[in-house]
Amino acid sequence: MVNVRVEQLCTDPELYIIRVDDDEIKYFEATWDIPEGITYNAYLMKLDNAVVLFDTVKADYADLFIDALKKLVDPKEITHVIVHHTEPDHSGALPKLLEENGYRAQVIGTTFARNLLQGFYGEEVVKNFKIVKDGEEMNIGGKTFRFITVPWLHWPDTMITYVVEDRLIFSCDAGGGYSIPETIDDSDEKVIEEYLPYVTKYIVTVIGHYHKYIVQNLNKLKKLGIVEDAKMILPGHGLAWCRNPKRIFDYYERVGAGVPTKDKVLVIYDSMYGFVERRMEIVIDELKKLGKKPVVYRFTDKEAPAVSDILGEVPDSEAIVIGASTYEAEIHPRIRYALFEILDKANYEKPVLIVGAFGWGGVAAKKIETLISRSKFDLVETVESKGRPTKEDEERLREAVRKLVEWIG
Ligand code: FEO
Repeated sequence: MVNVRVEQLCTDPELYIIRVDDDEIKYFEATWDIPEGITYNAYLMKLDNAVVLFDTVKADYADLFIDALKKLVDPKEITHVIVHHTEPDHSGALPKLLEENGYRAQVIGTTFARNLLQGFYGEEVVKNFKIVKDGEEMNIGGKTFRFITVPWLHWPDTMITYVVEDRLIFSCDAGGGYSIPETIDDSDEKVIEEYLPYVTKYIVTVIGHYHKYIVQNLNKLKKLGIVEDAKMILPGHGLAWCRNPKRIFDYYERVGAGVPTKDKVLVIYDSMYGFVERRMEIVIDELKKLGKKPVVYRFTDKEAPAVSDILGEVPDSEAIVIGASTYEAEIHPRIRYALFEILDKANYEKPVLIVGAFGWGGVAAKKIETLISRSKFDLVETVESKGRPTKEDEERLREAVRKLVEWIG
């Protein structure tokens, strides 16, 4: 059942989180398997002569959200709604909210945000819209609100808000992650440890296509000196970072840059009748002998992992091994799709070993080679052969793994 949690984050200023815990969603953006669910976080700040709402939630939960909000404030009293990013997981409830508000509130966002909102919800929603530029400041309720654009984190419309006097960063998608953490904030290390892999999965699947902008935008915020000093980082998904806020942006930077975890090698393969699998057993055995820790995802007649989970493993891997069968003169369809998404969403400079097996004609490995050579990944070696692996095939595979490990260094 979808739940809403309302908690006060601080008393000065009076700040609340309204978190909708969506455990009914199956595929984020109608694509990414997230059995772990997701939260949509909105924030409400009550100031002298002003009530500011930071983002809303998905349209499906507009009523739930507004009912929760009403426990804190009469929606008519909201004076400003800040729209950091218009993707409907944050803006979906905005039309209903403004209706309840009697269109009294000023809606604040970038030029892009205004245009997107108008396209999504019509003229009414933007009739009291204030466009803000990068670095622009507004005095609201006695506080200085600074708006900083962070384009492509996640859309071209995106900005964050920095409340100068209180050193609060409202960051929407940036700093967010999948899953429904037990706690609201980062007060429990166990919760954080469980949560962080879902942050990686979120970054790669949602922002991965633009991952170079993660590092770029975070550097921009760092240079402005607001990250080091931040008292809280308050994202639109997942944990609110109130104890050690810098940690989440450092984590984002590491994922954006693809910093590897020592010895982790991602192994992905399909095996229809065991021929690829026998080769991969040799590969995995050699990797382990050389001190590596393979993380294995296999597509067989008994299992099919979610591509979204595979994507989440790429950024911190030292290398990738891809095993594929030739299927109707093509790459096996499941590997083809996984590879397509890796190259689009998790295109990092990492070494790759390709392993192929075929019945009457080898095509898959060559096609993967072509795709890899056009990407940022580095092709280390390709080993493809027919049917069951022979003694010579085994030696070639072990040699290729040794070469891959040497490449990692
Ligand atoms: Fe959480 Fe890009 O929206």
